[in-house]
Amino acid sequence: MLAERINRLTSSLVRDILAAASSPGVTSFAGGLPAEHALFVPDLAALPAGALAGALQYGPSEGEPALREQVAAMLSAQGLPCTAGQVLILNGSQQGIDLVAKLAIEPGRRVLVESPTYLAALQSFRLFGAELDGWGSDEGMPPAGRLEKGLRTDTRLTYLNPTFQNPSGACYSHSERQALAAELDCHSLIVFEDDPYRDLAYDTPAPPPLVSHLQQAPWVYQGSFSKILAPGLRLGYLVAHPALFPHLLRLKQAADLHSNRLSQILVCDALQTGKLPAHLARILPVYRARRDAMADSLQRHLGDLARWQLPAGGLFFWLTLAERCDTMALMRDLLKEDRVAIMPGEPFFAVPDARSCIRLNFSHADAGQIDAGVARLAGRLRTLLCH
Ligand SMILES: Cc1ncc(COP(=O)(O)O)c(C=O)c1O
Repeated sequence: MLAERINRLTSSLVRDILAAASSPGVTSFAGGLPAEHALFVPDLAALPAGALAGALQYGPSEGEPALREQVAAMLSAQGLPCTAGQVLILNGSQQGIDLVAKLAIEPGRRVLVESPTYLAALQSFRLFGAELDGWGSDEGMPPAGRLEKGLRTDTRLTYLNPTFQNPSGACYSHSERQALAAELDCHSLIVFEDDPYRDLAYDTPAPPPLVSHLQQAPWVYQGSFSKILAPGLRLGYLVAHPALFPHLLRLKQAADLHSNRLSQILVCDALQTGKLPAHLARILPVYRARRDAMADSLQRHLGDLARWQLPAGGLFFWLTLAERCDTMALMRDLLKEDRVAIMPGEPFFAVPDARSCIRLNFSHADAGQIDAGVARLAGRLRTLLCH
């Protein structure tokens, strides 16, 4: 009775962890959740007169024209010149992953992803029957060389998260992006760049998007308002090469007609009136301080047990444990005995990896909770490694 692809829907382990992580008394390093007090609270009463006219009626599938203009201007300023006509407003950037998967994947299609990569993209690509290849685990090599090693003649899509990646926190430099783009231009595939963390830069601004360096390859670029305003708004956007845009628009129409108009009006107002940059200026110091607090706690409690890079942006530390360890068991024991939630590394790999890794979010807990949680993590890890 059910479609064959339903068998490919992977387990709900991640949803289970996230549900457990939100129970009272649990310190959560598990999800990519903004801090509660860092959520943008829209002021409906302050909207200009008439701004809400039409908000409750059906709207254009492409998105509200004024918001598309704002997004095009924002991206052009970030180094990806584009017009409002190339912008498609999404109900969250997770929708862009679904639309691109529908556009480019059929059973058996080879898709190349970073290793590790965003686990919900893997779930979506698998649902549509992709055969996944991973690149990136050979840390001694420059990214373009590693990418080349992973590419196969029949790869038709690559999914990249080059800026403060989820989960690794990695950010490719300007020259690495140029070299990767030049490599990708030599192959016949769609380049899909996912960029929801760009504005959460704690040290220096991120280099322009990788797709801005492409000369030949068709591309899709997407971003999100979830991490910088509020995920409950469910608002993101994509910009696409002219050869792909009409198909993505039709897929969006078929999926849900258009994105939530009320959210679009609120976000458009936040962009037009400068509330968005003001909000960012308020939350960046909070997240930077939490990142630094976690770096300090990790050094003190886990310095001999794991290695990591300080993330220059985004929301996560990615730890490679010094010894092999069952990170699923670590996650379960830590949640049950210590009331601390973490994400095991396994679900972030398209192909099994020999390393034992965990992902820790630093935006949700405060500095005190971070230190107590990391201390409990270190204690639980030592216990597990002794057995
Ligand atoms: C890399 C990446 N892409 C997409 C998403 C989906 O975000 P949203 O649908 O809230 O825009 C996330 C959320 O964590 C993410 O980390």
